[in-house]
Amino acid sequence: MAAPLLRSALCTERSLTSPELVAWAARIRRAWDHSGSGVPVYVHRKLWEWLYIIEALAERDLLRPGCRGLGFGVGQDPLAALFASRGCEVVATDVSGAQAAQDGWIDSGQHASEADQLNQFGVCDPDRFAELVRFREVDMRHVPDDLRGFDFTWSACAFEHLGSLAAGQEFVLRQMDCLRPGGFAVHTTEFNVASNRSTEGTGQTVLYRRRDIVRLAEQLRRLGHRVDLDFSAGTDPADTHVDEEPWTDTHLKVRFHGFVTTSLALIVEKDPSGRSHPWQPDRRWRAHRAAERLRFGAERRLHRLADRAAHSGSRPAT
Ligand SMILES: C[S@@+](CC[C@H](N)C(=O)[O-])C[C@H]1O[C@@H](n2cnc3c(N)ncnc32)[C@H](O)[C@@H]1O
Repeated sequence: MAAPLLRSALCTERSLTSPELVAWAARIRRAWDHSGSGVPVYVHRKLWEWLYIIEALAERDLLRPGCRGLGFGVGQDPLAALFASRGCEVVATDVSGAQAAQDGWIDSGQHASEADQLNQFGVCDPDRFAELVRFREVDMRHVPDDLRGFDFTWSACAFEHLGSLAAGQEFVLRQMDCLRPGGFAVHTTEFNVASNRSTEGTGQTVLYRRRDIVRLAEQLRRLGHRVDLDFSAGTDPADTHVDEEPWTDTHLKVRFHGFVTTSLALIVEKDPSGRSHPWQPDRRWRAHRAAERLRFGAERRLHRLADRAAHSGSRPAT
């Protein structure tokens, strides 16, 4: 009997150290094992995100000649190169250099402005890469409508950086239009494992709560798409460690702005019937978006006041 396919899930030690993911880690070793340690994997959620995306697509037989993939916010991740090495045609995209510089992605070496940066670790034969990979500037908040008919889309650690919880959710809903019926979207993001109530809801990095992902899945299903969620956070030693500064080598769960976060991979199959329609915000969604904007806007202002007070030694006005 065939093994069950990967579902939308959280980063766990068991998943990261599974034989399938470890095999992909070896395949892209030059992109992450910079010290040549030779360990099977780093216990790091970022590596898990890349490996999980690769395996989710590979087991669905999408990493082969003839398949077309579209990547968002690719930064300098090795996925475009890996997919091209398997014969896929790839359109790799990232936001404009000016916007990336403003948001600090260039300083942190996590932005791409040309295709060659995407094969800097030699994951793909250079001629094959040049033949199969195209780079394009795309803002995930405004996906151009000529990007259509792809067999798969992906992004790693990107849609939580669009300014608000709703902006990332709307990206996921809209990029489904880029897929052919039956195509797959695989996107990783930040997941708040500490709370299903309070979170970082606006700003440069937002943290999705379980309720946000459930709401997103409801919208996807309403359009006829298929998504299956598993929120198990793992019980192995690396799953129970929450990393914080000074950082350790175990980095699956991280303390961020007072919350505990890990990575979530979302796997969505586009309605295979070909009958799905592009997503449009309905009245309920618009009301929900407005309510969140108010709530998180107010929380942000309070945090800023508290911060200012802490630094000036005075107390915030109440
Ligand atoms: C944390 S980095 C991740 C990069 C890469 N995917 C990886 O896994 O290493 C976030 C990426 O999202 C991109 N990004 C941020 N805002 C974006 C936007 N509005 N549209 C497209 N990409 C964006 C950044 O330029 C950067 O490449």
